[in-house]
Amino acid sequence: MNIETIRLINFRNYESLNVDLNKNMNIFIGKIAQGKTNLLESIYMCATGRSFRTNRDKEIINLKKNQAYIGANVKIGSIQKFIEIKMERNKQKRIRVNKVELNNFRELNSGLNVVVFSPDDLKLIKDGPIERRSILDTSISQLKPIYKHNINRYNKVLYQRNNLLKSKKSKNEILNLLEIFDMQLARIGTEIILYRKHFIEELSKLAEEIHNKLTQYKETLSLEYISNIDYNNKNKIELEKNFLILLKSTVNKDLITGTTEIGPHRDDMVIKINNIDARSFASQGQQRTVVLSIKLSEVEIIKTDRGMYPVLLLDDVFSELDEERRKYLTMSFNQTQTIITSTDTLTLNEISSIDKSVFYIKDGKVLK
Ligand SMILES: Nc1ncnc2c1ncn2[C@@H]1O[C@H](COP(=O)(O)OP(=O)(O)OP(=O)(O)O)[C@@H](O)[C@H]1O
Ligand SMILES: [Mg+2]
Repeated sequence: MNIETIRLINFRNYESLNVDLNKNMNIFIGKIAQGKTNLLESIYMCATGRSFRTNRDKEIINLKKNQAYIGANVKIGSIQKFIEIKMERNKQKRIRVNKVELNNFRELNSGLNVVVFSPDDLKLIKDGPIERRSILDTSISQLKPIYKHNINRYNKVLYQRNNLLKSKKSKNEILNLLEIFDMQLARIGTEIILYRKHFIEELSKLAEEIHNKLTQYKETLSLEYISNIDYNNKNKIELEKNFLILLKSTVNKDLITGTTEIGPHRDDMVIKINNIDARSFASQGQQRTVVLSIKLSEVEIIKTDRGMYPVLLLDDVFSELDEERRKYLTMSFNQTQTIITSTDTLTLNEISSIDKSVFYIKDGKVLK
C-alpha cells in the first residue's frame, strides 16, 4: 500500500500543502520547528483517525484558523481510496472515505496501515503501563477494528461500574446492579485479553529474531503480556468465568476505592533484555534498539495479516542510530513506502542507491 498524494489545509503550521509522494522513499529535510513531525502526524491520522501526539483535535487546527483539512489519495493493493478528515473548533471531527462519511470516527478502517518510529517512542519502555497499553491498543486496532470497538465499549462499562461503586446507593442495591456490569466487563474484557495475548506472542517471536540480528546475537529480547487475570492455558469460556469470579472476590475493596481492580485496564507488557526488565537498566541505545525491533516486528505482523506492507513513518530517527542499525533499517525499505524526516542532509548519503524523492520543508512549505 502507498500514499499517492497528501493535501493539508490549515493543519498545524501548514496553511496549504499539496505533495505527490514517491511510492518507495520520501525524505523530508528541514530545520527544527518547520513542520516535519506535523506532516507525519497528518498521514498517521489518515490511517488511525487520531494523532500520535495529542487527543485534542483543536490543537491540530492552525492557531489562526477555525477549521483544518487532510485529504489523501491512497492505494491499497489495486484499490484506490480517498481519505478526508475535517476538523472544526468545538466540533467532532468528520471522516470520509471515497466521499462517504463515517458515522463515527472510531470506525475508521480506511485500509491504510502505518507504523511510526520516532524518538518519542522510547516511552514504550520508559513510561508507565498507561502509555504501553495505549501504544499496544493502537497497533492492534489497526489490524482489528473490532478490537477498538471492544476497547471503547469496555471503557464505557468500566466508567459506569466505577460510578456505581461511588454512588450513594445502599450496598445491596449496588451489588444487585453490579451484576449486569460485571457480566459485560467479563465478556468484553475476555475478548480484549485474548487479542492482546495473541498480538504480544506474535510480536515477541518476531522481535526476538530481529533483535538478535540487530545486536549480533548479544542480546535476547522478550516481551511478556502481564494481566491480573490468569490467561494461560484457558479457553474463552474459562477465562470469562475466572474474570467474573475475580471481580466478585474484590468487590469489597472496589467499594472502598470506587475503582475496579480487576481487568485488562490494568494490563502491562514487560520488555526484557537478557531476562532483565529493560525499563530499569537498559541504556538509551539499547532502548532505541528494542523499540526498533518492536516496530519492525509490527511491520511484519501487518504484512502477514494484510498481505501488504504498511507505510513506514520515520521521524528523525536516522541520526540516533548507529551505522549497523541504519543499514538494517534501510534494508527493510525495499518493499515499503517510507516517509523519513531529518534535520540534516547526511541521511541522503546512507540511502543513495534507493529510488527516492527529496523534499525540503521550511515554515510549513514544501519544496522539491
Ligand atoms: N495548531 C498549530 N497552529 C500553528 N502552528 C502550529 C500548530 N501546532 C504546532 N504548530 C507549529 O508547527 C511548527 C512545526 O512543528 P513540528 O513539530 O512539525 O516541527 P519539526 O519540524 O518536527 O521540528 P523538530 O525537528 O524540532 O522535531 C512548530 O513551530 C509548532 O509550534
Ligand atoms: Mg519533529
